[in-house]
Amino acid sequence: MHEKLIILDFGSQTTQLIGRRVRELNMYCEIIPYNKFPHDATDVKGVILSGSPYSVYDTDAFKADLSEIRGKYPVLGICYGAQYLAYTSGGNVESANSREYGRANLSYVNNEDPLLKGINTGSQIWMSHGDTITLLPDNFKVIASTDDVKAAAYHVEGEQTWGVQFHPEVFHSTDGTKLLDNFLNICGCAKDWTPASFIESTVAELKEQLGDDKVILALSGGVDSSVTAVLLNKAIGKNLTCIFVDHGLLRKNEFENVMKDYEHLGLNVIGVNAKDKFYSELAGVSDPEQKRKIIGKGFIDVFDQEAHKLKDIKWLGQGTIYPDVIESLSITGTVIKSHHNVGGLPDTMKLKLVEPLRLLFKDEVRRVGMEMGMQPHLIKRHPFPGPGLGIRILGDITPEKVRILQDADEIYMSLMREWGLYDKIWQAGVILLPIQSVGVMGDERTYENTVALRAVTSTDAMTADWAQLPYEFLAKVSNEIINKVKGVNRVVYDISSKPPATIEWE
Ligand code: XMP
Repeated sequence: MHEKLIILDFGSQTTQLIGRRVRELNMYCEIIPYNKFPHDATDVKGVILSGSPYSVYDTDAFKADLSEIRGKYPVLGICYGAQYLAYTSGGNVESANSREYGRANLSYVNNEDPLLKGINTGSQIWMSHGDTITLLPDNFKVIASTDDVKAAAYHVEGEQTWGVQFHPEVFHSTDGTKLLDNFLNICGCAKDWTPASFIESTVAELKEQLGDDKVILALSGGVDSSVTAVLLNKAIGKNLTCIFVDHGLLRKNEFENVMKDYEHLGLNVIGVNAKDKFYSELAGVSDPEQKRKIIGKGFIDVFDQEAHKLKDIKWLGQGTIYPDVIESLSITGTVIKSHHNVGGLPDTMKLKLVEPLRLLFKDEVRRVGMEMGMQPHLIKRHPFPGPGLGIRILGDITPEKVRILQDADEIYMSLMREWGLYDKIWQAGVILLPIQSVGVMGDERTYENTVALRAVTSTDAMTADWAQLPYEFLAKVSNEIINKVKGVNRVVYDISSKPPATIEWE
């Protein structure tokens, strides 16, 4: 069992970010709902209390019993976490006159304190709070202030307990990572969580868990399922069978290219061409959720059919990653669209689940893939939705519309690579709109389709900004698409961020 840091989640939007920062410092950590601290916590080195959307004095604020934690482990409260520690020890927390949001600078720093070692006056921090600590309990000593906030950071005398009003996990807190690293040092963390150590221990665990059992895994062409396959392959070799379904809604030539990549990786893959099944089931269906349901069920049918041809399968491999796990434990999560990944398999299959990536963040999955020697183009691939182009063709789907969209998308993506923009973008794609408009080509009037280009920057797809692509690039893409893709006479660029828009249009 790996030593770990526990992050108690009081519902802040930045809780996952705290986890990622700690992992980047090569320390393993787990994010747990505020009231679920494990009783058998022998391998815990320290505890971080996250921020929260609540005020500590709200009647429905999240309240944790810290009696098993304070004094036993080093504790760092962040924002609400800091206020909660002060409030529950007899301090005072009040609504600030003005909500403090954004950059501030530390005007006083006690860098004799081990939490603030190497951090100096003037250091930029990121504040985001509506409340402020107006009175600290006697044994809480201020160790940093800003001009507006006296108790920007404090230490509890006689205890390994600290609180910071600001958010060290946020990029704009320039010494935030240093502060978190100082806390890990206070906790005596070995900081030996690396991709190589993860691979070694996971492969050993998988061998132990699976023995000679057979495993089946659905591949999507995406990073998560591919890395899962390579890890399982390392552990059990030919006892792993992968299935890659072509639902006819992949990018142009994607099926053939990805099959080659998989074979190159030495995976045992069955490729299934199920295009006709999907096209016929989707014919005439326009509602996005209905399309998702048909595609999701279609996947399961094909997968089930293939699995039944194999003998003695005991396990289903899945590329579930940590954000999905946290979301399913989440105390505040809301579902905006039903994201299907292959799941909900028929009970008759009676397979046990093996999910070797369930504790990794996306960037860690990529690092693990690189460490195992997977090709960069597989690892750095943009996310692509399970229902594929099916949710990028607005309205009903026909093979002809798929052809138009594939051709336009192919031009966009290859120019993006050529111009060195691909790796700067989180995700990009083309959307085929259900709109025809008038154009003119040569001497002829045309009445054809419009496509929208989408490109966003993001770190986790929860929020995203539209990417400010160069005009020259957009001009080139537009020209190429209109000249080369029969059926398109107009190209537009989507300049909406998420929220309030979403990345996909359906
Ligand atoms: P939205 O559109 O919700 O997308 O901003 C966030 C991320 O999720 C992907 N996405 C999906 N992935 N099945 C999937 O496997 C789906 O139904 C689905 N819908 C959206 C989207 O591509 C983006 O990366």
